[in-house]
Amino acid sequence: MATPTAIVAGNWKMNGVQASIEELKSLQKLLEIKPKACCDILICPPFTLLTGFAAVSGEMIAIGAQDCHTATSGAHTGDISAGMIADAGAGYVIVGHSERRSNHGETSDLVASKATAAQSADLKAIICVGESEAERDAGKTLSVVLDQLTNSIPETATAQNTVIAYEPVWAIGTGRTPTPQDVADVHAAIRASLQDRFGKDGAGVPILYGGSVKPSNALELMAVENVDGALVGGASLKATDFDGIIDAYRK
Ligand code: 13P
Repeated sequence: MATPTAIVAGNWKMNGVQASIEELKSLQKLLEIKPKACCDILICPPFTLLTGFAAVSGEMIAIGAQDCHTATSGAHTGDISAGMIADAGAGYVIVGHSERRSNHGETSDLVASKATAAQSADLKAIICVGESEAERDAGKTLSVVLDQLTNSIPETATAQNTVIAYEPVWAIGTGRTPTPQDVADVHAAIRASLQDRFGKDGAGVPILYGGSVKPSNALELMAVENVDGALVGGASLKATDFDGIIDAYRK
């Protein structure tokens, strides 16, 4: 299995209204005039913008959602199924983001069921893992991350339908990042675990880093071994900032 194609993904979280499509169009313009980047580019807006974004995103930008339900349809007020996300024109869905794990009590078992639902709907599941600051301080980073990884990835995972995002909780929205060596250690452990469990497919699953990625630190973080791209929050909301991160994948 060849090295995974890198992905620079924007997670817009609970930000954006219909008018924000202008930001997507600005990003498209930047991608058109600047040298082609050797990565896939993905924007994950809120559910309300999926259809509109997918309608204009074109060949250069993929669209994803930020969560899905485990069921295909039924009496689940307020929830959205993976099939509905695919029907809206998206190709990806983030599952198990730390904000969902902490705000909604999502367990790794639930995350695995959501990933299965996503894969059954032909979506790529971006499965998020990451330790809290207390866990890092207690020296538990690898055990926490690997436990989440093992229990959040379903047996159906392949290099084609699965992406992993390592997002240390304490680095999200704080401006703080782990050192490149810390990132390298965690990504190497994730890669080893994926290969142990999925063999060659495990070598092909992209592993993204997320947590305070911005134009000024993207090159350094993206150069770390086994870092196959970024999952970007705040800096994905402005086309120029997001494009500045994509620069890490331009010659
Ligand atoms: P920030 O880039 O804002 O730190 O957010 C990271 C994140 O949670 C992406 O999913």
